[in-house]
Amino acid sequence: MSTSNLLGVVLIARHGDRLEFWQDPTTYTTSNTAITPLGEVQENNLGAYVRSVYGTPSSSSYIGLSTPLYNAEQFLARADAGDEGGVIYDSAIALVQGLFPPSSANNITLANGTFVPSPLNGYQYIPIESVELEEDVSLEGYASCTAFSNRTTEFYNSTIFQQKVNETAAFLKELPPILDGRAATLVNMWNIYDYMNVQSVHNATFLNNLPPTFLAQARDLANWHEYNVFSDTTLGGIGNIAGTAMLPSILTAMQRIANASDPLKMHYSAISYKPFLSLFNMTGVNSDGQLPAAVVNYAAAVAFEIRQTGNDAPFVRFNFKNGTDDDGFKVYNMQLPGMAQPGDVPLSTFLSTLEPVAINTTLQWCNACGQATDRGCAALLNASSTTAVAPAHHDRISPVGAGFLGAGLTFAVYSMLLAALAFLGLLAFGKRVHRSGSERGLNSPQGGSINHEKTASA
Ligand SMILES: *[C@@H]1O[C@H](CO)[C@@H](O)[C@H](O)[C@H]1NC(C)=O
Ligand SMILES: *[C@@H]1O[C@H](CO)[C@@H](O)[C@H](O)[C@H]1NC(C)=O
Ligand SMILES: *[C@@H]1O[C@H](CO)[C@@H](O)[C@H](O)[C@H]1NC(C)=O
Ligand SMILES: *[C@@H]1O[C@H](CO)[C@@H](O)[C@H](O)[C@H]1NC(C)=O
Repeated sequence: MSTSNLLGVVLIARHGDRLEFWQDPTTYTTSNTAITPLGEVQENNLGAYVRSVYGTPSSSSYIGLSTPLYNAEQFLARADAGDEGGVIYDSAIALVQGLFPPSSANNITLANGTFVPSPLNGYQYIPIESVELEEDVSLEGYASCTAFSNRTTEFYNSTIFQQKVNETAAFLKELPPILDGRAATLVNMWNIYDYMNVQSVHNATFLNNLPPTFLAQARDLANWHEYNVFSDTTLGGIGNIAGTAMLPSILTAMQRIANASDPLKMHYSAISYKPFLSLFNMTGVNSDGQLPAAVVNYAAAVAFEIRQTGNDAPFVRFNFKNGTDDDGFKVYNMQLPGMAQPGDVPLSTFLSTLEPVAINTTLQWCNACGQATDRGCAALLNASSTTAVAPAHHDRISPVGAGFLGAGLTFAVYSMLLAALAFLGLLAFGKRVHRSGSERGLNSPQGGSINHEKTASA
C-alpha cells in the first residue's frame, strides 16, 4: 500500500464530564447543566492528543498546522451553544487550549522597547463560533423538529420497542430505589442512564451502593434507545437529522481542505453525542459491527482525514477515539450506500453520496421538520410563500454560502417583520426579555423584544 499525504482533518468531538441534565424523551429539549473540572481536563487532554497527532511536525500525520503559534487561516472552530447549557462551548475552549497551548513565543516588543508576553504565560486566544439555536440549525437539527419527535413517538409505539419493554421489565423494576423519583421506564432510558452515570462519577454514596452490573446494563439500554432515535433506515431519513443538518459544514470543510490554494487545515465542531450516532449510521461504520451502535464517551472524537496519494484524487478516512480512556484514534471502514466494499472513500464519492441529503438552509430544515414557527421558520415560510424574491430553493449554492444565506435571510426577514410590528404599534422597543444561560444569542432574530420566550432549549 503506497503512503498517502494528509491534507487536513475535519474533527468532531463530544463535550467532557458534566453535571446531570434532563432531556424530554420525545422532543429532546434539554435542561441546563455545567461542565466540571474533570470535563475540562478530558477536553484539554483530547486537544493535546490531537496536537500530538496532527499538529506536531515530527508526527507522520502532521497536517502542517503552524507551531507554536496558531494561524487563524488554518483552523476553524464552532461549538453547539444550545444543548446542555454552556457545556459544549466550554469543552471547545478547553480542547483548543490543549491544541494550541500557551507559548512563550506569544509576545510583542513595543516601540519603546518594552517586552509584553500574553497573559497566563503566553495564552493563545482562539476564536470559536458559538452556534446558536435560533440562528443556525446545523449542530442541533433535532431540536424543535416536529417530524423528528413524531418519528420518535412512533418508535416508542412500535412492536420492536414493546418487545424490548417486555425483555427489560425485570431490570427496570429494580431501579426505582436508586433513581430518586425518576421514571423507571424504557422511554426514559437516557435520563435513567445519565443520572446513574453522573452520580457514579460524582457521588461516593451512590457509587458504593450501586449493584455492580447496573450501570453497564443501563448503558446498554441507553445505547440501543439513542441509536434507534438518532438513526434511520434511509440516509436522508428524519431520524438522521442530527447528521444531515451538520453535513454542509463538514462537506464544505472537506472541499476547502482538499483545495490546495485554500489555507484551511483543520475544521472542528464541538457537539453532543447525538450527531455522532447519525453520522455513524450514515457513513456505515457500524454496519458490520466493527464500531458498536452506541453512544460515545465524554471527549470522544471522530477525525475525518482528507488524504491523497501522489496526484491521485483525494479520499476520506474515518478515525475514532472513544473518549479519554481510549489510547488513540483507530481507523474504521466506511460503507456508504452503493460502495462495493467497506473502507476509505474517495472524496468525490463522499460528496456525491451525502450532498443530496444535506440540509443546506434553514428553510429546507423547516420543511423537512414540519416546523412552521420556531427557529425562524414562521418568517422564512411566510417569506417563501408570499414574496417572489425570497429563494425557496437555493440548493445549487455551495453549502457554506447557503448556510450564511439561511442565517442572513432569517435576519433580513425578521427585520422586515419587526419593522412591520413596530409600525402597527405591537412592539415596544428597548424592552429586553431575560434570557437564560443556555441561549446567549442576544442578537437572535427571535429573541429580544418580541413578547414571548419560546426556545428550543427551554
Ligand atoms: C512603554 O509603552 C507602554 C505602552 O504604552 C507603557 O505601558 C510602558 O510604561 C512604556 N515603558 C516605558 C519604559 O516607557
Ligand atoms: C448521593 O447518592 C445518595 C444515594 O443514592 C442519594 O441519597 C443522595 O441524594 C445523592 N446526593 C446527591 C447530591 O445527589
Ligand atoms: C441505520 O440505523 C437503522 C435503524 O434506525 C438500521 O436499521 C440500519 O441498519 C442502520 N444502517 C447502517 C448502515 O448501519
Ligand atoms: C464507548 O465506550 C463505552 C464504554 O466505555 C461503550 O459502552 C460504548 O459502546 C463505546 N462506544 C463506541 C461508539 O465505541
